[in-house]
Amino acid sequence: MLSIVTLGDELLQKSSNYVEVFDKELSDYTDKMFEAMLKFKGIGLASVQVGRLDRIFVVQIPNDEPRVFINPEIIETSVEEDHYEEGCLSIPGVNADVIRPYYVKIQAYNLKGRPFKLEAEDLLARVIQHELDHLNGVLFIDHVDSELKNRLVTDYHQRKEKLAE
Ligand code: NI
Repeated sequence: MLSIVTLGDELLQKSSNYVEVFDKELSDYTDKMFEAMLKFKGIGLASVQVGRLDRIFVVQIPNDEPRVFINPEIIETSVEEDHYEEGCLSIPGVNADVIRPYYVKIQAYNLKGRPFKLEAEDLLARVIQHELDHLNGVLFIDHVDSELKNRLVTDYHQRKEKLAE
């Protein structure tokens, strides 16, 4: 089972690399990503969160199919925005309201190395944007004002220390 990289690990701030080889190992790896995501009850997981700096994320929101995005790019966003209380498997116990575009059009590659486009709105669009941020070393707490971010980070580390005692 893959383990989750958590806040404080500098890996989470790194930009991930483009995937060039689409083989069986890649598809086995994304299976493992889904396994880890489901185990920790997430609806999205980026590769960097399990320690591998590849531009890959997986998503499965309720009542939707499992989706794999490789080398994804957002090619269109709506002006209309929406807010939602986000969380992240890499920052357990922390939630914050984040404003993002309501709709995105994304281009990515599937496991066979074929390009596809997808239009998404609402929760799917949100998860896609959150996960794509991970590939650029950005966390959801980077979207809130710095005062709130500092408080969330401090609380998180204090809680973690308490649990370790
Ligand atoms: Ni996350």
